[in-house]
Amino acid sequence: MTTTTRPESSFASTLPGRYYYDPALYALEQERIFSQMWVCVGRAEQLLEPGAYQVVTVGQESVIVVRNRSNELQAFLNVCRHRGARVCTEASGQLKGSIQCRYHAWTYGLDGRLLGAPNVLNDEQFDRTQFGLLSVALTVWEGTIWLNLSDNPSSLDDQLRTTISGRFGSYEPFLRYGVGQLKVGKTITYEVNSNWKLIIENFMECYHCGPMHPELCDLLPGYRNGAVYSDGDSAMLADGVEAFTVTGKASRPHLPGLLPEDLRRYYGIELLPNMLLNLFHDHVLIHTLYPQAPNHTRIVCDWLFDPVVMQDSEFDPMDAVNIFDLVNRQDWEVCQWTQQGMTSKAYKNGGIYVPNERHIRGLCDFVLAKLGE
Ligand code: FES
Ligand SMILES: [Fe+2]
Repeated sequence: MTTTTRPESSFASTLPGRYYYDPALYALEQERIFSQMWVCVGRAEQLLEPGAYQVVTVGQESVIVVRNRSNELQAFLNVCRHRGARVCTEASGQLKGSIQCRYHAWTYGLDGRLLGAPNVLNDEQFDRTQFGLLSVALTVWEGTIWLNLSDNPSSLDDQLRTTISGRFGSYEPFLRYGVGQLKVGKTITYEVNSNWKLIIENFMECYHCGPMHPELCDLLPGYRNGAVYSDGDSAMLADGVEAFTVTGKASRPHLPGLLPEDLRRYYGIELLPNMLLNLFHDHVLIHTLYPQAPNHTRIVCDWLFDPVVMQDSEFDPMDAVNIFDLVNRQDWEVCQWTQQGMTSKAYKNGGIYVPNERHIRGLCDFVLAKLGE
């Protein structure tokens, strides 16, 4: 008897529609992905002074990220240890040396310790050391803040290094961009009526770039035919194009650590579960995704530049910002169109990834593995 092996199909099936709208599956993702992995919550430089804080939602939790008196960032569950009230009710702000719950005025230090509890602090039956705010693991990586809600966080390096080394061929080319030394020149926040996975899936393929992004394809023509880059390979600026800007002209020098071979490249890379990183020779753009609901994602885009260049009185980030803002808006529109199809019976069993989208199936398999399915 002989057996013949059919070649593996270069097509792949997508997830069924329900993975993009079912509240129960969304809750499971929040529990098994966003409450277990390291999750990016923005740039460390945006919390500059002791007492500066922001409140972020990670998984099902509200978390306070604050710079303490020793100038270190710390994170705490935003839940008062007395009766469970939200401690910080604003999205961000500046604390005056302590964190006070407004309900019964319990007061915590910027390091989370309980410092004051009216009438009971000195009660001999009350051990205040047991009632500090509960800490959340925090790591700063390349200037970005990452939180981990799990009881035993693995290292963030373990989570990121293999992906980065795979994308760049090794870790070294990524390090040359010096992302941790760059500063935010512009931030735009987008509210997108789309599941977080659709946004990442769309970022992972350029099959759509020809029809949807004519301006991008003029600058990076490799994408016109939906090229897929991996293993250190990257999109290259078109002949005659100097930079990824509205005009294609360069208006600032390249990032200081780059080599000649880096200067005409664009790398896009997704760092799961919620960061999309875009590296150009003169700036870096980070998309941070904050899932809000099965069909709603907040996306914060930070355009980063060399701080030395930013001190120049002529510095203007907008030629870089405007082109990717245009690309973003084109992308969010298609993600929203796709979201609208997810609940249809036409998509009950999902759709298909064509050969140059085939790699997106890896994201689906990642999600299924995390959900235990
Ligand atoms: S719930 Fe916060 S002080 Fe009572
Ligand atoms: Fe796109």
